[in-house]
Order: sequence, then structure tokens, then C-alpha cells
Amino acid sequence: MNTEPLRVTVIGTGYLGATHAVCMAILGYDVLGVDVDREKIAELSAGRVPFFEPGLDEKLREALGSDRIRFTADFDEAARFGDIHFVCVGTPQQEGSNAAELAYVESAFRELATRIDRKALLVGKSTVPVGTAQRLTEMVHDVSPAGDELELAWNPEFLREGFAVEDTLHPDRLVFGVTSEWAEQQLRAVFRPILDEDTPLVVADLATAELVKVAANSFLATKISYINAMAEVCEATGADVDLLATALSYDDRIGGRFLKPGLGFGGGCLPKDIRAFRHRAEELGIGQSVAFLGEVDAINIRRRERTVDLVRELAGGDLTGVRVAALGAAFKPNSDDVRDAPALDVARLLYLEGAHVVVYDPEANANAHRAYPDLDYVDSLGDATDGAEVVVLLTEWDEFRSADPGLLGHIVAQRRIVDARHALDAERYRAAGWEYRALGRPDGAGAAQLTPHEKDVLTPPS
Ligand code: UDX
Repeated sequence: MNTEPLRVTVIGTGYLGATHAVCMAILGYDVLGVDVDREKIAELSAGRVPFFEPGLDEKLREALGSDRIRFTADFDEAARFGDIHFVCVGTPQQEGSNAAELAYVESAFRELATRIDRKALLVGKSTVPVGTAQRLTEMVHDVSPAGDELELAWNPEFLREGFAVEDTLHPDRLVFGVTSEWAEQQLRAVFRPILDEDTPLVVADLATAELVKVAANSFLATKISYINAMAEVCEATGADVDLLATALSYDDRIGGRFLKPGLGFGGGCLPKDIRAFRHRAEELGIGQSVAFLGEVDAINIRRRERTVDLVRELAGGDLTGVRVAALGAAFKPNSDDVRDAPALDVARLLYLEGAHVVVYDPEANANAHRAYPDLDYVDSLGDATDGAEVVVLLTEWDEFRSADPGLLGHIVAQRRIVDARHALDAERYRAAGWEYRALGRPDGAGAAQLTPHEKDVLTPPS
């Protein structure tokens, strides 16, 4: 029996692939990272992560230092090198459709399969519509010189941006979608250090493994939209959604995570995954089963419009020429990702209504500028709020949470703030003379306050 450690290739070096490749090297495997983007390859080879992900830079340098990882754009080299090939390329939403774009996944599998001439395992980690793995298996067997010897498995990835290294090295579960004992054994071998930590493992068929990922993300999106729907009810009734969420969270069956009301979800996963899931269900003739995800999406998008309404109300009913400080552009804190970012969307909507929007995000300014060059971007909280007539908190970075409302009050032109992430202490702001507003919370003084413990319960997962 071959006792050499498995050699691992990772195709695609975005958020998912770069993290997976680096972590595989940290776990002791020889790793080859592959990408068609030569600039990314050059950056990673030089020890620089081309995006913001806390802790990943150090791990990359550690892996490079141990000579366990290299990066290339050469698929011939990848095919020769790997015993297990992980495919981690993106499946974004298609232009003009809710469906997932599968061109990159298909191309990655095809490029490898046509070059591999010995027994090996291709493992998909990308999020794909159910049924894709089966279709790819047939394609791979068709085009590969190795024929049926080239096996395919699916191993969905649940990492959160901002916690990518931790989630990859210590995941809360592993899921292997396999069609043979050999494939399962290969995966067990490569994930041995993680399984040795008693990480729960679910071994399943290909379709179930594909579905786990979209079902999980749909559940999380639904939970967020559920509490945001309750926020709408609170707005109509004068109730307080933060207190409501706290009271719900003490029920263990419900729990407080992903029950934080506010501007809602965005990013490269949740929005496009629920849309692609609906699309796939319709293709399968079972559209009804997940039709509710359309409502989940609609509730989420309405939060952005309602945030603009609040800013307009605070500005006196008209946004024309009003200077608005937009705090945050990333879809969540500790990320520079602006894909489907609610924050940036609100900034854009304010701009379209004639406001003079000044955006500051600690990490995402450059990406936001590329996406929406028309907005004004500045490099500090002070510059953003200088002379602002309304401040709107859109991404709950620590820098914003810990800002002193008294000091901020001296910088702005008007002490008016919309806390779109329910991240600030309303009473502190009000005590410092601010008009404070948040979706789903009563707008005046006298509203009941959360204790520090209650706030902890509802703080988004870290
Ligand atoms: C998500 C899943 O969590 C992860 O398992 C999957 O692999 C990829 O998609 P990520 O996109 O990194 O990860 O972000 P996540 O931390 O899940 O947050 C998603 C969005 O929901 C963010 O925009 C966040 O601001 C929002 N959110 C989260 C809320 O609005 N309320 C909450 O209570 C929690």
C-alpha cells in the first residue's frame, strides 16, 4: 500500500479555494493551487492574499515557508501532481437569470479530466444546483483517458468569510458525497486530522451532498428574513423588534444566531444560492416546494428601501443635496467583499435620490469604488462624518460600534443617525443629543433597552 502523503490540488484560488489550499498545506499535505488568473498566482506565490481575510496572510506565509504549497496556472502540471483535486471555483448568479453560472465549474472538471490518465479523485466544493455532480461524472468518464478510474465526489464547504481559516481547520461538520468505498476512504484520509478532532461526518450520495449546502444557506436566509418580517410588523405596531428577537432567542428551539434584525443578508453566497435553488426547483417541476424563498428574498430587499426611507425621513423628507455619511460598504464586517452588499446598495439608492453620499469602509473602499465609482469614498470615519446631515450605519465594523457619540456629534452638521444594523447603543446616542432611528424599533425616547447580556445573545456569530 502507498504510504506517501496524498498530494492535493486546489482549482480556483478565491475566498474558498485559497483558504482551502493554505489549510491543506498547514495540515501537512503537498498542495498545488491552480488558477487561470496569473495575477492571483503571482500574488499568492509572493505570500500576499489578494483579498481581505483575517489570519489568512500569516497562514499563507507559514505554508510557503514550509515548502508545502505552490501556485500555478498550468493544468498539465495539476493533472500530473494531484491524487485528489478539489474544485473550488465560483458559481455566481447568471446575468439576467436566477440560475447559477456553471461554466467555470464545468471547465475546471473538463480541463482536469482530459489530462488525467490514472486513478484519481475529483472533488467538487463549489455550490452547485442539485444534479450537477451526476452530470459532471458522466462528462468526466467520457472525456478522460482514465475513464471510470477517475472518480468524482462532492464535499460542500460551509466557511464564513471573516472566519475562513477557523471554519476550514475546525468545521462544525464534514459532508462527503460519494459513489464508492474508495472515494470515501480517500476523503477520510485527506480530512484525517479534522476527523480526529471528532468532527461530525455525514457520508451521503452526491445529490444529498449538493443539497446540504443550499438547504443550509436557505435556512439561514429564511431565519434572517423571518426576523426582518417581524421588524416590519413592529414598525406598524410600535413594538420593538430587538426585544422581540431577544425574547424569541431564549427558546432553545429557536436560538439567537441569525436572528439579528436589520439591513439583511448579502454577500457572494446567501442571495445567489436562494435564487439558484428556486430556479433549480422550478426546472425539476417542484417550484412550489421552495417558492417561499422568493418571499425571503423580497423581505430582504425591502429592508434596503426602508433604510433609505428612514434616512429621508430624518433629512426632512427630501434627500436632494443632503450630505449623508454612509458607514460601511462591505456585506458584513471583517470582509472587503461587496458582492450583493446591502450597505453599498443603500448608498447607491441614496445617491440616486440626489443625496451627496460619502462612503467609508475600513477594508472595502477599493472594491466598492470599482463597483460604484460615482460615490465619494474617504479614508476615515472623521472624513465621512465631517459636515454630515445624516449618518447611516450600514456595516457593523467594530470601529463604528465603538465610536463615541459625543465626539462624533462635534464633527457632524446634524446629530441624526440611522442604525441600519442595530449595532449601536440607542440610549447613549440619544443622551448625546442624537436623533436615533433603527428599523423595527420605536423612534422616540422611552423605548425599552436591552441589557448587555441580551445584546450578547443576539450578536451575530463570531
Ligand atoms: C454564508 C454561510 O454562513 C456559510 O456557511 C456559507 O458557506 C457561505 O455563506 P458568509 O456569506 O460568509 O457565509 O456570511 P454570513 O456570516 O453567513 O452572513 C451572511 C449575511 O447575513 C451578512 O450580510 C450578514 O450581515 C447577514 N446577517 C447575519 C444578518 O443580517 N443577520 C444575522 O443575524 C446574521
